[in-house]
Amino acid sequence: MRVLGIETTCDETAAAVVELRPDGSGEILSSEVMSQIAEHAAYGGVVPEIAARAHVDLIDRIVRRALDRAGVRLADLDGIAAAAGPGLIGGVIVGLTTGKALALASGKPFVAVNHLEAHALTARLTDGVDFPYLLLLVSGGHTQLIAVNGVGKYTRIGTTVDDAVGEAFDKVAKMLGLPYPGGPQVEREAEHGDPRRFDLPRPMLGRKEPDFSLSGLKTAVRLLAERIAPLSQQDIADICASFQAAIVDVLVDRVRAGLGVFRAGHGYPSALVVAGGVAANDAIRRALTRLGTESGLRLVMPPPSLCTDNGAMIAWTGIERLQAGMSDGMNFAPRPRWPL
Ligand code: KG4
Ligand code: ZN
Repeated sequence: MRVLGIETTCDETAAAVVELRPDGSGEILSSEVMSQIAEHAAYGGVVPEIAARAHVDLIDRIVRRALDRAGVRLADLDGIAAAAGPGLIGGVIVGLTTGKALALASGKPFVAVNHLEAHALTARLTDGVDFPYLLLLVSGGHTQLIAVNGVGKYTRIGTTVDDAVGEAFDKVAKMLGLPYPGGPQVEREAEHGDPRRFDLPRPMLGRKEPDFSLSGLKTAVRLLAERIAPLSQQDIADICASFQAAIVDVLVDRVRAGLGVFRAGHGYPSALVVAGGVAANDAIRRALTRLGTESGLRLVMPPPSLCTDNGAMIAWTGIERLQAGMSDGMNFAPRPRWPL
């Protein structure tokens, strides 16, 4: 089975072809991603209108390239999958409409994919992880702990009550005058900073419910930066290091709480899976690796290129859903909000 996947929910225009092998694993035949970071950088964040127009400009070329690099024609496909949300409505419409049009023209089944489900299932494509598992999804828009029990069987066991982790990284970067997107910049600064110089709050630490709250930490950084301004290069590095250390402590503690809830309600997870753009952060990767070893749990982190938004995760989710006998009609409407 071969499926084309299309992703346009945020600022990446992406398409990929994934093939299901006879042993049940997946092979990525092609994966094309065009990031629009340059278009949005001047505004310090993603501008929905600019994103939608860029998707319109790029989508034909990206789909063409994904098919060419995979060496397949539309007629060779067994299905077409497109992300139908959650995300920025303009972009979602572009990808969803393109997917439907290709399905209609080729007579192939169509799958409308939930972008979060795609992040959740990526570890089965990259590492063949078995159900059930605990997923920590940490991106610019989402911070959630999810019990993944099967295709279409997800229970959210924890979420953020305010900012997403990536959003907190981006906002802290902006306060410190670092360019967008802020996460990688904060990580770079933190490498030569002192994480013990500033004692920042660790919200929700020790709570049994595996929820997150990051706005208090973000505000503490803002007040600190205002108090010691003007900031030297070393001040910026030390603030970044102290902030990142607080985030690491919060994530480890919240995942530990999530494991407790998982074991009580869903049995023993086969793995802890970490996905989303923030999973590219090395300090976070190292801390969660230690947590995995300490709790005797297999830790799976897809490579950064598949943690951030891409078409392969959409194609793979299409394969999983088609295998489970699920497909969607041409009347499937875009869903800017679509909780798992
Ligand atoms: O999953 P993603 O590519 O897009 C969505 O939000 O869906 O995640 C992007 C987020 C941004 O907030 C970015 O700052 C953050 O992931 N990020 C990082 C790092 N790389 C990307 N945060 C911390 N450290 C990093 N190395
Ligand atoms: Zn995403």
